[in-house]
Amino acid sequence: DPHDRQGFAHFMLKEIYEQPEVVRRCLATYLKPDWNSDRDAALPATPFNLAFPEALFAVAEIQIVACGTSRHAGLVAQYWLEQLAGIPTRVRSASEFVSAPFPLTTNTLTIAVTQSGETADTLAAIEVAKKRRSQSDVSLQSWSLGITNQPDSSLTKAVDYTLPTLAGAEVGVAATKTFMAQLVVFCCLALAFAVRRRVLSPQQLVDTIAALRLLPDQIETTLKQQHEPIQTVAQTFTDVKDCIVLGRGMNRAIALEGALKLKETTYIHAEGYAGGEFMHGPIALLDAKVLVIAIAPAGNVYDQMLANAQKAKTNGAPLIGITNVTESSDRAVFDHQITVPAIDELLSPFLTVTPLQLLAYAIAVQRGLDVDRPRNITKTLIH
Ligand code: AGP
Repeated sequence: DPHDRQGFAHFMLKEIYEQPEVVRRCLATYLKPDWNSDRDAALPATPFNLAFPEALFAVAEIQIVACGTSRHAGLVAQYWLEQLAGIPTRVRSASEFVSAPFPLTTNTLTIAVTQSGETADTLAAIEVAKKRRSQSDVSLQSWSLGITNQPDSSLTKAVDYTLPTLAGAEVGVAATKTFMAQLVVFCCLALAFAVRRRVLSPQQLVDTIAALRLLPDQIETTLKQQHEPIQTVAQTFTDVKDCIVLGRGMNRAIALEGALKLKETTYIHAEGYAGGEFMHGPIALLDAKVLVIAIAPAGNVYDQMLANAQKAKTNGAPLIGITNVTESSDRAVFDHQITVPAIDELLSPFLTVTPLQLLAYAIAVQRGLDVDRPRNITKTLIH
């Protein structure tokens, strides 16, 4: 029963802890069970259960509309769709899209992402997109897809196809497990596109599927090993007023998501930035009172991220690092290190987000706040 806290102090914590199971469930649904990593065996053409017409896999462009946390999932997906599948992808806040829609392009898939399936801005955006496309003088090939945790929602009625996120009802106002489920669905979608478009080597595919299958255990490990240390770190920063979360590449979206979790549950003024962009002005904010959290998984952007973190430290800011690099020399940079399991950089958002959810939760509890029902907001924004 999703409305029973099952011994957890809050729904938010319970839902954070459900994430391994949610990932397992989504993978069981979207990955074909008979597809194994033995490349000598006769593999089914694709490892994914995504019943789209062939023509849809040939789209020239993808446009994503969503709000809040769902938009952040869209921003991670933008990296996967562009870097893995090579499809030009745009993401816009649904509320901005309504007054400033993307230019009309042919052969385009519009994706609306909404946990509730009822967010007014997102429903309005999908209607605007459909209307503009159908009223165009030239015939534009168009498809619409909804990604939602509520398969019976208004969104489902508005789109051609729906991919459910299978996270179970989410009660806490702060989205946690539904974000994780959105990432799984988007990752499978991007990989399915990459396979059909033949832009992924067989080895890359085999490796990525194997890595995806490790995720539930790795999230479990993160929860087991990091929950207590994060509670201790949270005690140090209970009274912090400002926080900057830095990420690069696809972890910029996780920085935005971490900052949103902090804002809505702890009321700390928190901002997410791309590490490089942060140097162009915002770094002037830093002093010993501003907490900086650097998301620094091993990979292409690791060295640059570490340089950004070092710079923050030089400017006096206390520094938390979320990383899977454990060499002692690097460790010295961070005042507090939260270690997540080793993973390919491409899949790192699955593991870097959970420490931020736990940190926001722990600080909110220490501040004595109503974690599951923050002030001024409701779970779903229907006008
Ligand atoms: C997430 O923690 C927030 N409560 C909020 O930003 C939310 O993601 C947003 O309102 C969108 O909701 P939806 O996914 O139901 O459309």
